[in-house]
Amino acid sequence: MSIAQETARRRTFAIISHPDAGKTTLTEKLLLFGGAIQTAGAVKSNKIKKSATSDFMEIEKQRGISVATSVMTFEYNNLKINILDTPGHKDFAEDTYRTLTAVDSVILVIDCVKGVEEQTERLMEVCRMRDTPVIIFINKLDREGRNPFDLLDELEEKLNIRVRPLTWPVNMGSDFKGVYSLIEQKLYFFKANKTKVEDDVLPIKLEEAVLDEKVGERDAAQLREDVELIEGVYDQFDREAYLSGKLAPVFFGSAVNNFGVKELLDGFCQFSPEPIARQTDKREVKPDEKQFSGFVFKIHANLDPRHRDRIAFLRICSGVFERGKFYHHTRLDKNVRFSSPFSFMADSKSVLDEGFPGDVVGLYDTGTFKIGDTLTEGEELQFQGIPSFSPEIFKELINLDPMKSKQLDKGIEQLTDEGVAQLFTLQPGNRKVVGTVGDLQFDVIQYRLEHEYGAKCRWVPMSYSKATWITSEDPKKLAEFIRLKGNQIGYDKDQNPVFLAESDWMLRMNQQNNPDIQFHQTSEFKVAV
Ligand code: G4P
Repeated sequence: MSIAQETARRRTFAIISHPDAGKTTLTEKLLLFGGAIQTAGAVKSNKIKKSATSDFMEIEKQRGISVATSVMTFEYNNLKINILDTPGHKDFAEDTYRTLTAVDSVILVIDCVKGVEEQTERLMEVCRMRDTPVIIFINKLDREGRNPFDLLDELEEKLNIRVRPLTWPVNMGSDFKGVYSLIEQKLYFFKANKTKVEDDVLPIKLEEAVLDEKVGERDAAQLREDVELIEGVYDQFDREAYLSGKLAPVFFGSAVNNFGVKELLDGFCQFSPEPIARQTDKREVKPDEKQFSGFVFKIHANLDPRHRDRIAFLRICSGVFERGKFYHHTRLDKNVRFSSPFSFMADSKSVLDEGFPGDVVGLYDTGTFKIGDTLTEGEELQFQGIPSFSPEIFKELINLDPMKSKQLDKGIEQLTDEGVAQLFTLQPGNRKVVGTVGDLQFDVIQYRLEHEYGAKCRWVPMSYSKATWITSEDPKKLAEFIRLKGNQIGYDKDQNPVFLAESDWMLRMNQQNNPDIQFHQTSEFKVAV
């Protein structure tokens, strides 16, 4: 098969949701359909159980599991589908944001009882930055959920995207009877706890009397009325609008009952994009280009403290990745080769001889990679769209053992390369401020510094809650602002100046008072606040 053919059959996506909406359950059901696993329960969730939120040793264990489930690949309808897993725990949200830079589309899971939740909104904001196409799956229809029209309104309002239902539920909760496919004009009957992959389905036109027989007159009338309303209120599904991230098709179902999942998967196969072109600092790279290119979006530390090697996850963007070939590491300007790159299966890793655009390759790394690094066949370019996002919690790192300051420096540098947290340096005095999105990371860092690098530290909380990257067209004005703000200015790992604000209000005040300074939400400066 040619590169173009191989590329065309790949679909690389992530399932995202607020914790507990059903992401893990849905992932597992999709893998069952794809034959990647045989029985339910085979995929260990990488989510950290609620009871363990204060137990970071548990997290360390979970991290081990999550390597195995980081990328799950299966074949379905002649497509090679790569699901990139994302951590469920909100403290690891930044990991999720980064994984979203490596996918071509997402499936967003919503709990029909809870509707749009906090984490749903934030995840969608990240998708919107790159106009990632989104399919929505409204889950848990076997529970008494909210009115589906209300849910759709809420999705449009809070997620700032147009929606278009493609299936529609007949009742919910204890009276849930099934979903009607508006595309296929078929009624799928609900049976609880259906674990086998089979259909109980009736092709049916809504006006046919058999509908009344099957679901009862009242529900048949309601379904007819609902569908009439849908066809009247919502535009026809427009794939182009979906591909440009403006319109989200919506499916209803119950993941745990394996219901509505096949329709979702079939819809996904039909609509979702093949690997898309990606922007670099020089030009757009198209997947069917002959020359290989790719970028690292995630780095995973080895769990065994005696081996400091790590696993870098590389997303292939163009050409063919070949085992044992030399590639150009553009940031370091050096050539590197990998003798045992691997691909991910649901429960195992296997050596990969070649990979194509859309695929994710695992590379053993001894410290050569940072998140966002680019490999090419020689061309000098750097993939864009892998920014750092503002952390929310900031603490100063205090060294407890002056004899071990080298180890501490090295440790914190490597951990932040991995993306565990962000490091900002404050002057004078080279003070190290670590920023994260969740408190748990501080425990993890402290533990890992001690166990992997032999360095002891403590944390001093700081009152900042937001980091914004600052630029100005006038270098003098920027220098003046930096001078005036003193200890509210930190430098990120690439020496970009960052303004640290105590609150959104303080940030706004500074913006108003300094119109010549631009404040950016991410390190790539695309989005001004
Ligand atoms: P997450 O990855 O998004 O965090 O969610 P996960 O799939 O772990 O699902 C969260 C809980 O919701 C699980 O129950 C799961 O069984 C349940 N669930 C998923 N889909 C459905 C559905 O369609 N209907 C209903 N009623 N429940 C659903 P749990 O009790 O937290 O865990 P477990 O002990 O069942 O695994």
